[in-house]
Amino acid sequence: MVGKVQPDEKQGLKKILVVDDYLPTRNLIVETLSQSSQYQIAEAENGKEALRMFDENDFDLVISDIMMPGMSGMELLRLIRDRNPSSAVIMITGNPTTDLTVNAIKKGAVDFLTKPFDIDELLYKVDIHLRQKDMLPGEPSGNILEQNKLNDQKDELSKQGYIYDSIEGSPMDNDVIFNKIAELALKLVDGEVCSIMLFDEQDNEFHDKVVKGNTEGMHNNYTSSPTLKMVFNEVIERKEAVLINSNDHPEVAPSLICAPLMIRNNILGILSIRKKKNREVFSKKDLHHILSLTKRASLNLENKILYESIFFNIMDTLKSLISSIQARDHYTEEHSQRVTNEAIRLAASMNCPSNDLESIKIAGALHDVGKIAVPDSILLKAGKLTDEEYMVIKNHPTIGENILKSIVLLDKERMIIQCHHERWDGNGYPQGLRGPDIPFLARILSVVDSFDAMTNNRPYRSALSKEDAVEELIRNKNTQFDPDIVDAYIKIL
Ligand SMILES: [Fe+2]
Repeated sequence: MVGKVQPDEKQGLKKILVVDDYLPTRNLIVETLSQSSQYQIAEAENGKEALRMFDENDFDLVISDIMMPGMSGMELLRLIRDRNPSSAVIMITGNPTTDLTVNAIKKGAVDFLTKPFDIDELLYKVDIHLRQKDMLPGEPSGNILEQNKLNDQKDELSKQGYIYDSIEGSPMDNDVIFNKIAELALKLVDGEVCSIMLFDEQDNEFHDKVVKGNTEGMHNNYTSSPTLKMVFNEVIERKEAVLINSNDHPEVAPSLICAPLMIRNNILGILSIRKKKNREVFSKKDLHHILSLTKRASLNLENKILYESIFFNIMDTLKSLISSIQARDHYTEEHSQRVTNEAIRLAASMNCPSNDLESIKIAGALHDVGKIAVPDSILLKAGKLTDEEYMVIKNHPTIGENILKSIVLLDKERMIIQCHHERWDGNGYPQGLRGPDIPFLARILSVVDSFDAMTNNRPYRSALSKEDAVEELIRNKNTQFDPDIVDAYIKIL
């Protein structure tokens, strides 16, 4: 059956393509999904086969392994997204803490599954992403009911799009995200007041995180309300949203929805929203909206937390590499710190956007990380370097770039590090790039790096005065340095 779509195509079934070269994994996924009568499953054992099938069929979802011989899962993801940018692809990875996982999300995968599989997680993620895809607007229909449904779906899509845009994108403070979720919940179901409480494992209690809307006369503190406590316990136990329409309890009257925020299978917090306007109550559709909002928000939070933990882990590792150079050579770490500060100041004065400042902060701190591979006899040599020794030193941008190669998070920073000894006239190293071919941020780093090296004592020569170093920058405009950057730096010095 490999490489084939099951022939009996039934109307309304969701078509899923499972791609994995390892038969037991593929079988497990296919068998699990086949238990649902709503899915029609096809399978492929490699990327090439999968792509051919993708071209011939309309798949609602692709689930693909990352590590495969021949075409990798990442390449398949890229080609599928090229063909259809709205296609949903879930990636499978053996190790959730690798850079591949993060890269998959960056390259447009909607989610990832980690081995060994949790069957519930597999079913849950497939379900939620297929439902998400359903909300994409389709062809206009003549039928009024259909049209209304479509309008509802479009409305839903814009609501979903809003939360996606609110949470995705530039790194955001968690508080900002929770505020946005609460605001969106109020808008989605025309609620009166919404609160998000986070679960604290230390004291086993929920604590207020965000309260939005009209809080007048509201009981938000669940600890003082036995009714709310009961509702919360039910949400935690069932891990599902609940809707209560009742006038018996003032804490919930007339209508209350509570939904869990989950990370993996653990409760992160609870979103509760109440309506008391005109004594109206929430509908089942409102409950559905809140449920899909919290599920979506949970997935985004989960990805964000994973992304951040990987990122900080990597940065910690790299910083300890820099520190290990410092143990041998005090100059490198202090130099890196000064260069970073000056490069940020210069880039900001040249109106670089904030993501560039973020990149230069990372690249500045790590630009000489490749010196880890330079032996002490050369790195700490007091006299003039021989040609051979200079060749070893000249390897450090490439070694630094190689160290960061496996970290896809840092593509842009890697390029800056690799090019920080290139020269404007093309006589630099390692590639001999010329003029604007050298990344702009690398040209900034080059000016600041050289100025700092000149104004500090080195084993082989003593420091120049600031004035002499400025003269040196000016003398090397158009040869070593980008003239505009030199001018901009002198202006702020
Ligand atoms: Fe360097």
